[in-house]
Amino acid sequence: MILITGGAGYIGSHTVLNFLKDNYDVLVFDNLETGHIETIEELKKAGNVTFEKGDLRNIEDIDRVFEKYHIETVIHFAAFALVGESVVEPAKYYRNNTVGTLNLLDTMVKHNVKSIIFSSTCATYGEPQYTPIDEKHPQNPINPYGASKLMVERIMSDYDAAYGLKSVKLRYFNVAGCDTQGRVGEWHEPETHLIPNILKSVFGEGKTFKIFGDDYQTPDGTCIRDYVNVEDLAQAHKLAYLWLKKENRSEVFNLGTENGNSVKEVFDACEKVLNQKINVEVAPRRPGDPATLYANANKAKSELHWNPERTLEHSIDTAYKFEQKLQKLK
Ligand code: UFG
Repeated sequence: MILITGGAGYIGSHTVLNFLKDNYDVLVFDNLETGHIETIEELKKAGNVTFEKGDLRNIEDIDRVFEKYHIETVIHFAAFALVGESVVEPAKYYRNNTVGTLNLLDTMVKHNVKSIIFSSTCATYGEPQYTPIDEKHPQNPINPYGASKLMVERIMSDYDAAYGLKSVKLRYFNVAGCDTQGRVGEWHEPETHLIPNILKSVFGEGKTFKIFGDDYQTPDGTCIRDYVNVEDLAQAHKLAYLWLKKENRSEVFNLGTENGNSVKEVFDACEKVLNQKINVEVAPRRPGDPATLYANANKAKSELHWNPERTLEHSIDTAYKFEQKLQKLK
């Protein structure tokens, strides 16, 4: 079976659904600290999912799982992912994201499991020296979150050299949208991301939506990002899994649409999709936000045959429907 760590989380749960669609047996390992048991319940309705609660920071938890099940490969999402929090609580990020992954890798070596797909991030690049960003761009993360992921990338390369453990590292740009059928979605507490924050403001949460800075060196003064749909991203994991099975070598791929959208453009698209005016105000810049980030994803397109096709409007529409569902839980 395929072990998906962090399968109760945002990107992890969409990837579980993608594998279930093709009738894979999936084992989800999650500590439910940021993931949700309700998500597991939805996943169970969609196919053959086994859930094991555990924490990568306790090597016994993960070792127990490898003892109990026959695991063929690992797709590893479990991590903390708030950039701002990582600056004030770096130990939390290094302990969970880096040391937790080290526990996972050691357990894999012990049980002779030799392939892993890893959820990395464009935050490993740091302040861009050029855009679009390709995989050769220097990696100089500017926050502990990015650094905790970059360390894992390096550890994985060393584990390939030492133990023949093959890894595909996927560096995501900005992930957006939710399952088209509305089963799972973006459910962060607290929420810091652009699209859910715009949508929450429609429901009166956080009241007026704030644009963090409109004095950047961009055409409309707001930051530009590359918003890749979460279902397209989940599909990239399936393609990476199949690619690794065939190629049996370690690689790294950027995952983005190669299109940049400014905060104002995303906001306008939300008003259009919802067909309503949304209250907005301009606030000061958020520390650590680069002006422009978007991907060169040629490598994923040519090697993995990945073709991200869902539009920003689709991401907003599905995110809105999921937000409506979350509001009903309140
Ligand atoms: N933004 C606002 N208002 C908000 C929220 C966000 O104006 O309420 C702006 C941000 O300032 C930024 C853009 O919208 O310019 C996107 O912000 P997000 O927080 O949605 O995403 P980030 O680009 O900060 O973060 C993403 C991932 C991180 C990853 C990072 C790498 O979510 O995990 O890219 O730069 F580390």
